Amino acid sequence: MLHEADLRAGLPVGSLGVELHYFDSLDSSNAEAGRLAGRNAPAGTLVVADEQRQGRGRHGRRWLTPAGAGLAFSLLLRPARKQATGPGGYGLIGALAVAEGLDGLGLQPSIKWPNDVLLAERKVSGVLAEAAWMGDELAYVVLGIGVNVRSGSVPEVESLDFPATYVEREVGGPVDRTGLLLAILQGVDRWHERLGHPELLATWESRLAFRGNLVELEDGKTSVRGTLLGLTQDGRLRLALNAGQVLELDAGVYHLRPV
Ligand code: BTN
Repeated sequence: MLHEADLRAGLPVGSLGVELHYFDSLDSSNAEAGRLAGRNAPAGTLVVADEQRQGRGRHGRRWLTPAGAGLAFSLLLRPARKQATGPGGYGLIGALAVAEGLDGLGLQPSIKWPNDVLLAERKVSGVLAEAAWMGDELAYVVLGIGVNVRSGSVPEVESLDFPATYVEREVGGPVDRTGLLLAILQGVDRWHERLGHPELLATWESRLAFRGNLVELEDGKTSVRGTLLGLTQDGRLRLALNAGQVLELDAGVYHLRPV
């Protein structure tokens, strides 16, 4: 069990966790945060689930969160000012905050574009930012973060499309899930204030996994191979093809894997 009382005692973290909705078991913390948004919950509302029965992953995949094994939480964020950027920037914040939280445990995480956090080239965390629009303005974003902390949080190897690991395996001992969650919230709060700032992208890019390596990107229908160069100013991936051409690819569509 996550200890709700310990969590409450550490909140709020800056502007986050002003309201906490904690569940021993829930369909999906992203789904619940969306329902709360519809009932005018305040910005910074935090939904935490010890177990998720229908956790959502990117590209319509499932995300496994058995009771007692991982971290699954979502933040309701509302843009402070009129914002034309999509939810992509929020995904960057989530991944960076997880990576910095893992730094605090003495680990060396990297980020696989667009927002998977890796330890020793295995996925330890996924981020799902889901946006709601009012016309062409962003009404709110639900930033959902899942972290594999204990062994039970890693799905069966056959169901994985990328190798996975869990934090306790990499640390080599027990990890306090509440402490890790609060550390991640600190990072989200700090970077949220710098959304759209070049420093965010530069810091994110400094952690980019497989940079300079040959990678393959596929969108379900086609695939392309090239050398991963880095990011554009707006967070697209720069890929150098053999012929010398440089492609700029949007997040949200592609799966990336090293060759
Ligand atoms: C991915 O596919 O890598 C993204 C996974 C995101 C999972 C988290 S767990 C908390 C939040 N609630 C959900 O239903 N999904 C996200």
